[in-house]
Amino acid sequence: MTLTPRFPHFLHGGDYNPDQWLSRPDILEQDVQLMTKAGVNAVSLGIFSWAALEPEEDHFSFSWLDQIIERLWQSGIHVILATPSGARPAWLAQKYPEVLRVGEDFTRNHFGGRHNHCPTSPVYRQKVQKIDTLLAQRYANHPSVILWHISNEFSGDCRCPLCQARFRAFLQERYGTLDELNRAWCTGFWSMSYSDWSQIEPPSPRGQMSNLSLLLDWRRFSTKQCKDFIAFEKATVQAVCPDIPCTTNLMERFWDYDYFDLAEVLDLVSWDSYPAWTGKDDEKVACEFAMNHDMMRSLKDQPFLMMESTPSNVNWKAVNKLKRPGAHLLSSMQAVAHGSQSVLYFQWRQSRGNAEMFHGAVVSHSGRDDTRVFQDVAQVGHVLKSLDSVLYPQQVQKSEICILYDWNCRWAVEYAQTGLNGQMDYHGRAMAHYHSLWRLGLPVDFRDMRKQTDFSRYRLIICPQTYLFMNDIEKKLREFVGNGGVLVITYFSGIADATNLAFLSDAPHDLTDVFGLRETEMDALYPDEENQIRMEDGSLYKAYGICSLLAPEGCSVKGVYTKDFYAGTPAIASHVYQSGEAWYIGARLDQTSLDDFYAKLTGKLQLTRAINALLPHGVTAHRRGDTVFIENYSGLPASIDLPGTWSDLITHAEVQHLDLEPFQVRILHPET
Ligand code: GAL
Repeated sequence: MTLTPRFPHFLHGGDYNPDQWLSRPDILEQDVQLMTKAGVNAVSLGIFSWAALEPEEDHFSFSWLDQIIERLWQSGIHVILATPSGARPAWLAQKYPEVLRVGEDFTRNHFGGRHNHCPTSPVYRQKVQKIDTLLAQRYANHPSVILWHISNEFSGDCRCPLCQARFRAFLQERYGTLDELNRAWCTGFWSMSYSDWSQIEPPSPRGQMSNLSLLLDWRRFSTKQCKDFIAFEKATVQAVCPDIPCTTNLMERFWDYDYFDLAEVLDLVSWDSYPAWTGKDDEKVACEFAMNHDMMRSLKDQPFLMMESTPSNVNWKAVNKLKRPGAHLLSSMQAVAHGSQSVLYFQWRQSRGNAEMFHGAVVSHSGRDDTRVFQDVAQVGHVLKSLDSVLYPQQVQKSEICILYDWNCRWAVEYAQTGLNGQMDYHGRAMAHYHSLWRLGLPVDFRDMRKQTDFSRYRLIICPQTYLFMNDIEKKLREFVGNGGVLVITYFSGIADATNLAFLSDAPHDLTDVFGLRETEMDALYPDEENQIRMEDGSLYKAYGICSLLAPEGCSVKGVYTKDFYAGTPAIASHVYQSGEAWYIGARLDQTSLDDFYAKLTGKLQLTRAINALLPHGVTAHRRGDTVFIENYSGLPASIDLPGTWSDLITHAEVQHLDLEPFQVRILHPET
């Protein structure tokens, strides 16, 4: 599938900030020459250029950008053109302070930083509309421009009076009457009830933080605000030229907005990938970022762009390690294996000063092209070019497995004051289940609970901590099992409705007959405690953190606790329901136990792996079309016997057995 129809190829390049170098034409000229050497074919321009484009109110300066776009285009380099709304100029903040954001303590920010604007402010919108329109009119028909990069890494929210009024309007639309809101938010608790809409305020550490339904609705409202702002910018630029798609760069593990909902307004998903490689056994980091890539692919169920990644190190983690030899190609190809149509970097040339002067970049302060980093980048450019005709049109292997991952549920789980306060860790638990499948080289999709979500193409659905049920998810899951699917759910599922009110029924709500059991109580364990589960086949699983008590009602008990007052009672059970099977995992299992559980279950279901080979620790495989990527993150050499004969797409060697170096990736095509 083609994300950028004006240039249907893998993109290689990244954030280019020539506005930091306008007084150095020699450097700008060198940039283009070095880009050609590094195999760069696309750069993102203008992300933080508002002050350079409009140095004073209504005085615009486009000639520098005209020249740069023209010069890039002479060298065949395409442009991902940004709208500059992520950082506003000082004159704007000074003249119209209402464009600045109001924080959690209800005080207004001063000028500074980025992502510091109010999404509601009419003045901000007018100013953004003006500059976006001028950019679109001037450049959208330039043949080099292939994509709009709307703003940058949207995050956070604003509590100014205008945003507060919008919040109340959002609630009025959602609940209709104040009585209904009071009911849905359970405001009988702690005398929280409202007698007038104007009494409702956003959550704040200085005010209301104990109404969990309010917290949940605030997150939904923040998502709506951001979605609305993106839609506004998108409509502005596409009014001038509707053919150029729009994206904005998303982030990993992101909490503030529901990305499934937000992605509806984007033409394509792009995101910024910054793994913290340790340079030792990196399989956990690799798995985490594989999951991020799969999540981004899942948001719109289509390929995505990796909009940013670092060619060496970042400068904002506690420890900013260099990439080990091989790791740059490996992490770049990991993105491609999971469906990325690009390898793009932050940033092309290292800034001379300020917060990011020590962030890794393709070209460092020395300006040399014989550095290790430059060579690594040039290698990726070369590989992408050579893979383009075979791989670009290919989709990643279709997944038979989906993990239910829903932001509403994640927020509600993490707000809940229960068993392990602050450590229910919705994302981390989803990742633990994903990890077992990743180790087996099984492709995985993520799906949420929106009304339109369709599960019919899957054979296995996994629902970790599906605490909140909304949009009739219980009916969909019942139907899925009824039609022959296999469902795995864990403890703390089916407890509360869409507004975070507990169901007045047995858990999991309306599915106890599907699982043939009820969850009756949830025990929490101290960090130094653990329990054990004896499985029917004699295996022993380790449980920690959470152990739920289950009352069987027709299920087949597969594992029982061996310790504590609930020793001998069910911990894991399965149940045949119509044509399918439903599994209940009542406890938090350690990774080895989950691995064993999923190896057996997916083996029984004969789900299709990327390759049928024994994958040693730290090595995994992913397939795109017929091409298989074998990735070694173990930090050690690894060997694999392949089923059949393959040809290596980079070296063109014929292979039946692989000896991988630490952090090596091999890209293989089956021999016909
Ligand atoms: C991203 C951001 C970039 C740059 C980069 C540094 O989050 O979009 O502008 O700051 O981080 O890693």
